[in-house]
Amino acid sequence: MLTVAVLISGAGSNLRALLEAAAEPDYPARVVVVGADREADGLAHAEEFGIPSFTVPWREFTSREEWGDELGTQLDVWKPDLIVLSGLMRLLPPSLVARFTPRIINTHPAYLPEFPGAHGVRDALAAGVAQTGASVILVDDGIDSGPVLAQERVPVLDSDDEHTLHDRIKPVERRLLIDVVRRVATGELELAAARRPLTPS
Ligand code: GAR
Repeated sequence: MLTVAVLISGAGSNLRALLEAAAEPDYPARVVVVGADREADGLAHAEEFGIPSFTVPWREFTSREEWGDELGTQLDVWKPDLIVLSGLMRLLPPSLVARFTPRIINTHPAYLPEFPGAHGVRDALAAGVAQTGASVILVDDGIDSGPVLAQERVPVLDSDDEHTLHDRIKPVERRLLIDVVRRVATGELELAAARRPLTPS
C-alpha cells in the first residue's frame, strides 16, 4: 500500500477527492497525513476522515529554508512514499525538493508549461486562450517546471470568469490526481523514470 502525505494551503477540495478515493478498499494508496503552511480550511477534511494533520506556519519562519527544514522534519515522522502538493501555494526550498525527489508531485490548474505559477486560471483568461487545462507534474526546483505526468485540456467559455473556469478545471485535476497516485501505487508509473536532473547548485 502506497502511503501519501498531502500538503495544502486552501479549501482542500482536491485533497477531499483523494481522501474519498483512498477510502475505497480497492484503491492502492492511503493518505497518512495532511500538512499545511497555514490554518487552511482544508484541514477539516483530514479531521473528518480521521487522518492526522500538522501545520508549519510560513509566517513563523524567517527563511524558506528554515520553513522547509521543519516541513521535512514533520514529513519524516510519517515517512510517506509519496508527497502530493494539492494547492500548496508556497514554493518548496531546493533542499527539501532534493531530499524527497522524485517522490513529490503537484497538481496545477493549467496545461503546463502554459501558465505556471500562483494564478494559472487568471493568467489563462487574461491571455484570451480558447482552451486551458489541468496538469499533474513531478516537482523539481523550478516553478511548475517539472516533467508532466498527466494532463488534459479544458475549454474556456466566453462566459467564464476565474471562478467558473477554476470550478470546471478542478474535477479534471481530481480525476488526473487520483489516477496518477493509483498508477504510482501499482508501479505502472515510475516516478524515478520520469525525473530530470535538478539544476546543479
Ligand atoms: C487547485 O486548483 C490546485 O491545482 C491549485 O490550487 C487549487 C487548490 O484547490 N494549485 C496551484 O495553483 C498551485 N500553483 P483546493 O484547495 O480546493 O484543492
